[in-house]
Amino acid sequence: MPPAATVGLVPTMGALHVGHLSLIQEAKKECDFVALTIFVNPTQFAPGEDLDSYPKTLAEDLAKAAEEGVDLVWLGESDVLYPPGFSTVVAVPQLADRLCGKSRPHHFGGVCLIVLKLFNLFQPTHAYFGEKDLQQVTIIERMTTDLDLAIQIVRCPLVRESDGLALSSRNVRLNPAEREAALSLSRALMAIKTSWESGERNPQRLSECGVGDLDSRVELEYLEIVDRGSLSTIDTAEIDVEAVVCIAAKVGDVRLIDNIALELS
Ligand code: PAJ
Repeated sequence: MPPAATVGLVPTMGALHVGHLSLIQEAKKECDFVALTIFVNPTQFAPGEDLDSYPKTLAEDLAKAAEEGVDLVWLGESDVLYPPGFSTVVAVPQLADRLCGKSRPHHFGGVCLIVLKLFNLFQPTHAYFGEKDLQQVTIIERMTTDLDLAIQIVRCPLVRESDGLALSSRNVRLNPAEREAALSLSRALMAIKTSWESGERNPQRLSECGVGDLDSRVELEYLEIVDRGSLSTIDTAEIDVEAVVCIAAKVGDVRLIDNIALELS
């Protein structure tokens, strides 16, 4: 890489969509040199999860990267990144044990491992992550602070389809009926937000009004209202901190997550 004052890193697993492109665009605004990484990282998938069926669209991804003016695209290879004998773990247990961490106990360790390796390889000044994966970006911020890494973690807003569905590489695996059912996730979050805006502050009642909106084909994993900083469940009678409603569910075979902030005005 040529010497540059600011290097922006955008880590992805490919199958790029407009959400990913928004990270690249943010990086392009702020950095002299922008590197995009594409690697479906095996250490963040448990056996039986969708590692093998994860969508891959490399030719389209490269065309999109070129269109966005990315300076370098890096494609990871498992045997190079994780050669025989590899055994290091990276963990942020206090933030990784909740929400998605309950059903995916090894997931965030795998994310931290690859992100830390990418930070070491690229030595970026800035790294871009989407709030679609709110728990992921929160954990990466913690790791960056705890390990004294001189990298600015930039949070980018969650991008939705025009009908509200949070953009995800996995959406292409939804059939039309499942996609219709999946829409009820964002509808549930919007219903909670509307109730919040009309003055409801009780987390239990707010959650109930969201769950009531879910399509019967949605297999709910969790719907939780959490403290934005600690990601711990809010169990007070009234919410008086910056909060986020987080949801995870399966629709057919596809696991989806989404979230919406409840701001204190
Ligand atoms: P991936 O799911 O490909 O996402 C790459 C980045 O794009 C993440 O920071 C994610 O939060 C962001 N992103 C995805 N959908 C988005 C949306 N709808 N709006 C805004 N941002 C969105 O997240 C991963 O890959 C991996 O865990 C990774 C960090 C690359 C480590 O392997």
